[in-house]
This record gives sequence, C-alpha cells and structure tokens, in this order.
Amino acid sequence: MKLFDVYPLNDITITKAKGSYVWDDAGTKYLDMYGGHAVISIGHTHPHWVLRIEEQLHKIAFYSNSIKIPIQQQLAEKLGKLSGKEDYQLFLINSGAEANENALKLASFHNGKKKVVAFSKSFHGRTSLAVAVTDNPAIVAPVNETDHVIFLPYNDEKALENCFEQRGHEISSVIIEAIQGVGGIVPATESFLQKIRSLCDQYNAVYIADSVQDGYGRSGQFFAHDYAGVTADIYTMAKGMGNGFPIGGILIAPHIAPKHGLLGTTFGGNQLACAAALAVLEVMEEESLIENAHKVGSYLLERLSTIPEIKNVRGRGLMIGFDVPEELKDLKKNLLYKHHVFTGEAKPNVIRLLPSLALTKDHAIEFLEALQSEIASLSLKGKENKVAETV
Ligand SMILES: Cc1ncc(COP(=O)(O)O)c(C=O)c1O
Repeated sequence: MKLFDVYPLNDITITKAKGSYVWDDAGTKYLDMYGGHAVISIGHTHPHWVLRIEEQLHKIAFYSNSIKIPIQQQLAEKLGKLSGKEDYQLFLINSGAEANENALKLASFHNGKKKVVAFSKSFHGRTSLAVAVTDNPAIVAPVNETDHVIFLPYNDEKALENCFEQRGHEISSVIIEAIQGVGGIVPATESFLQKIRSLCDQYNAVYIADSVQDGYGRSGQFFAHDYAGVTADIYTMAKGMGNGFPIGGILIAPHIAPKHGLLGTTFGGNQLACAAALAVLEVMEEESLIENAHKVGSYLLERLSTIPEIKNVRGRGLMIGFDVPEELKDLKKNLLYKHHVFTGEAKPNVIRLLPSLALTKDHAIEFLEALQSEIASLSLKGKENKVAETV
C-alpha cells in the first residue's frame, strides 16, 4: 500500500530529537526554529514529559469518558492556574480542528443562532465547520460549503460594526486568531479584539479565540488575546498542549452551561494524553517558559528588525514572521540544507519562526548567524548574476 500523497516533503528523515535540536538518520544535527509547526512547546523529548508518559503507560493508557478520570481534573486545575481562567470549564479533544468544530457548535447550541463571522486569511482547520470558516477555497470541498459563514476583512472595525448592525440577531459567534498563523503572522489590533468583545456582548454572540497556534504561552502571554485585555467566551487550544502528544481542548466561560450528551468524544481526555499535557504545564511553570518566550522572542524581533534585507519583521513572543524579497527566495531552503536550520513558511513569501518556548538566547544567536550568513551569500550571488547580465 502507498501513502496518500498530500504532503510536499523535505528529503530528510528525523530519527532523534532533544530540546531545540533534531538529528537525521545520517547523524546531522539541525536547529529547530519551526517546532514541528508550533507543536513543540517545552522542547523535544523533555525528560519530565517522557517520564510522566512512561509512568502513565504502566498504569493505564486509555479508558473512555464513561468513568471518572481524575487526571482530567488535575489538568483542568493546572490549566486554570497558568492561564488565569480558573472559573472556566475544560472540554478535551484531540486536535485543533476538533477544538474549533466543538467551539462553533457549542456557541450555536448556547444561543440558538446560525451565522459565524470569520476573517480574511484565517485558518481554523480542515474538518467541516472549521474549514468552512477558513479563508482558503482550495481546501473547502463542495460538501463543506455553507451559507452560515460571513467573511469580513481582518482588523476592519467599521466592517465588523456594519455587519453586526445589519445581522447581529443572526450571529452566533465570531472566530478569530489574535495572531494569524497560516495567514502569515498577522496580529490583530488590540482595538479590533476589544470591538469584537463589545459587539458580542451587545448582540449575545460568542467570542471564540482560536488559540491553537498563538496560544499556550507562544506569544509571551498565555493567550495572545490577553494583550488586548479582553476575555473570550471560548478559547480553543491544541498544538503546544501536548508537546507533540495529540491533545486539544476548549476553555468555556462559566455562563455557557453544559448538559449531558451536548458534546462527546471517544479518545478526547484519555489518561495518556492528560499525563502528557500535565507534564507540559508543569515544565512551563517550573522553567518559566512563558516569560522565556517573551524574553527570547523580544530579542529575536529586535535583532531581526536590524537586518535590512528582510522586511516587515513582526509577531509576538516566539511567533515571528518576516517577508523574504524575491532575490532571497532560496533563503528557507538554504537555511535547511546548507545551515541545517528548520524554519516555517507562509505563502507566498513569509518565513515563520515557531520554535520551542524553551529556546535560549544562544539558540537565537545561532539562528541569526546562519540567517545573516545565508543572506550575505544570496545577495552576493544576486550581484554577480547582475554583473554577468550586463557584461
Ligand atoms: C490557528 C489554527 N487553528 C486550527 C488549526 C488546526 O489544527 P489541527 O491541524 O490540529 O487540526 C491550526 C493548524 O495549523 C491553526 O494554526
């Protein structure tokens, strides 16, 4: 049997990982500034995380949500403490798309309304409603098409106000990334998020903060929405939550009431996933990783902003993007194959940095040196080509 060929692959096989480094099958070491797409939060194979999973495996890995699972409550308490959302309720699932799917559904159960406001260049996942609120027609199958979604321009307060004035009575929820990830590291303005909060209050709509990529400490605050001083009604989470162990969750404000049978899942909240997620929060607290993301992220942002060849350096904490001009189009590829540094990208020309929150200043310097050396080499090649053309 063949694999269903949907991923364009780098010709690299990773066989070992530790902290902010990974190694391929030939023993070559790579600096990981990509974190397997923002998933590695506390560092690859962190010993406490490995131990917690190992210990749990010897006790029980899985039993369904038909019995008491105390480790879910332990996770909820720790999560409440670290996120500052102690009065919220936790529902556990397995991925980011599932988190958004459940959030959108719960919002509609809660207020009985059908329309969802989403924004240009958003990405919320690939399941039916999650993909319907994603602004990328190429990944929306005909069966996912719905007239329940209203797309508005991101950061356009006037358009949002007009939409609510005209259709507020129909709007069930607004779903937004405080920093768009797949869209190219684009932060929402604080006043835009505040406007969403006040309109949702005014029209009894649910504010859904898609924190799958920008949440869980990545921005230097637990939730990137915290920078705007607003609280959402539902936060969706996944990527960093298990440091690579699949787990997702939604945090639900106290005014949204549960009812038996309203939501459900077979695998969500299993003992093994909870052990991994608890280990992540313990390490985040013990090693002050949110503060570290803020500190090392600020250093990176400052240093990157002084490199004239790259444009529009932006982001928060360890979620950083910059535009790569046409003459440096091989930058990402060369960083990987020549300098052994993994980075992320956003089409058409953005490099995205999403490393572990435990990235040190030395790692950041190592990355900056590779980046500057490659920019110098590509710029020189560009100049030589120009000279050759004119001769
Ligand atoms: C903001 C955001 N929401 C949702 C998702 C979907 O998460 P998953 O791939 O775990 O379903 C992603 C994945 O990249 C994301 O970046």
